[in-house]
Amino acid sequence: MNQHKPVIFIDSGVGGLPYYESFKKSMPTYPVIYVADRANFPYGPKEKELLSSLLAKLVEQLVTRYDPALVVLACNTASVTSLGYLRSSFPGLTFVGTVPAVKPAVLATQKNRVLVLATERTVQDPYIYDLARQFNAQCAVIGQGAPELVQFVEREYVHASKTMREEMVRPYLVQSLEAGCDGLVLGCTHFLFLLEEFQALAPPELAIYHSLDGVAQRVVTLLKGMGLPEKRSVSGEGTGNSMVSEVLSAGEAQPHRSFPFSVPPDRLVVTGSQDLDAGWSSLMRLYNFRREPWR
Ligand code: DGL
Repeated sequence: MNQHKPVIFIDSGVGGLPYYESFKKSMPTYPVIYVADRANFPYGPKEKELLSSLLAKLVEQLVTRYDPALVVLACNTASVTSLGYLRSSFPGLTFVGTVPAVKPAVLATQKNRVLVLATERTVQDPYIYDLARQFNAQCAVIGQGAPELVQFVEREYVHASKTMREEMVRPYLVQSLEAGCDGLVLGCTHFLFLLEEFQALAPPELAIYHSLDGVAQRVVTLLKGMGLPEKRSVSGEGTGNSMVSEVLSAGEAQPHRSFPFSVPPDRLVVTGSQDLDAGWSSLMRLYNFRREPWR
């Protein structure tokens, strides 16, 4: 049994899963609870104050129930709008936020033009523009909200064809190039599901930026600093390699992205309705997650 306090990853839906996966690659046996706040999905159209209070309520429930070592806001919108509020509301708790990769993009740009693709809320907030100014005051940042991309990843991604995925991505590459940008920041965690398509279709003069590995490494560093390194070689934990095809029911479309592990002790909280749409049901089978009861 792994005795450590768990790490909690929170997103409005599937967006935090690539971050969870990245962390698990570094610390495969560390206990994690993944929270998909589907009761409040999508976060993108919500006002800052509402989102902050919804997240504070959720964190309070999670703290009472799971007593976590730390909480990862695996969501750009939640981090940009509410990280400060949560830190001051829960002073004893460590939070890791997910900041859009604006810094590397504005430092590397030759054209001083960068497009940040994110939710409506993230691009309306001054955060990304202030961040850009801090590191390159000459750089123009174009914020583009893409709520339909969030919906696509949340609901259709698992069963979408390559052509559909490419069709979703292409307009934003065209927009970036037409706007004279040489950097495109994926500023919403959901968009990491389409990283492969963004990278494959982007011409060499357009660089794609994201914050995936930085966040996972930050969590690892903090846990080690708390004296909570993972326990080694706990038999049966963290090394399961359930092949995607084995956990899908017969006749179901084969997903294109295989997550190389399934970790039986890891747990999933999905807030809101018990009825999950087809995309989520498939994902749960893919991950072999058991859904925790949630009121
Ligand atoms: N995944 C979230 C983000 O990184 C937001 C998606 C939503 O609108 O709920 O911003």
